[in-house]
Amino acid sequence: MTRTVYVNGEYLPETDAKISIFDRGFLFADAVYEVTSVLGGKLIAFDGHAQRLKRSLNELGIENPITTDDLLEVHRELVRLNDIDEGLIYLQISRGAPGDRDFVFPNPDEVKPTVVLFTQAKPGLAKSVKPMTVISIDDIRWGRRDIKTVQLLYPSMGKMMAQAAGADDAWMIEDGYVTEGTSNNVYIVKDGKIITRGLSNDILHGITRAAVLRYAEEAQMEVEERSFTIEEAQNADEAFYTSASGFVMPVVQIDGVVLGEGEPGRVATRLREIYIDESLKSAV
Ligand code: PDD
Repeated sequence: MTRTVYVNGEYLPETDAKISIFDRGFLFADAVYEVTSVLGGKLIAFDGHAQRLKRSLNELGIENPITTDDLLEVHRELVRLNDIDEGLIYLQISRGAPGDRDFVFPNPDEVKPTVVLFTQAKPGLAKSVKPMTVISIDDIRWGRRDIKTVQLLYPSMGKMMAQAAGADDAWMIEDGYVTEGTSNNVYIVKDGKIITRGLSNDILHGITRAAVLRYAEEAQMEVEERSFTIEEAQNADEAFYTSASGFVMPVVQIDGVVLGEGEPGRVATRLREIYIDESLKSAV
């Protein structure tokens, strides 16, 4: 089926959608993005994603070209036009296409941001739990990982390094401590306590992370926000990651070391259930 996508105010068949070769997203990775999941035809955590998008744009001085109400409308219309029951909506906003290549930012009065959205159907998303195996790699990304930019070459290389090693994903390490997964926030569980790195410029402030930590505390689970090493993770009782596309996903092997029984852990399994149940209640 040909998807209907959104480009700068228009709904088009994906084959007719066009972006300038001078777009700064294409030439300079000068763009931010969001990925929002859809369950039962409704958007999960839309407000959180819309707020983080605003923050990312603001941090880069890109004028926000679309109101949150209009953005919600576009998301909903794409879900409707593409008949998405379970899946993802990808949104990207670049600084625009100045008509030539120049390192200097264009004048925002003359060049408007490019807005693109498209859907990805993922039937069975809520049910698909894969016990993940991960390797560790150096984190050599830039210093503003809190901004959700489309500079995803290194995370993409990290996934390929994981694949080459027969694993599913990579956890990145900086100054001896785990930062995050290639496209997710990461957690370990020891003696019932959930441990995850605190928020800073070193990691993306996950929308799923915020919700999961809130639900964990509401369920009287103990949470500690601090950095941990890969050795501590290998000695944990269980591990998991969170993201808009994976929700809560168990991690059962780290650099070849099997955690516990090598099965999805109790805490991760419970948190996944709570996250999906609660998110469905507030889906829009
Ligand atoms: N990735 N950390 C990184 C580096 C990420 O790319 C992501 C999300 C997360 C989790 O954030 P959230 O819970 O808001 O999805 C953490 C998305 C899903 C992606 O790039 O496809």
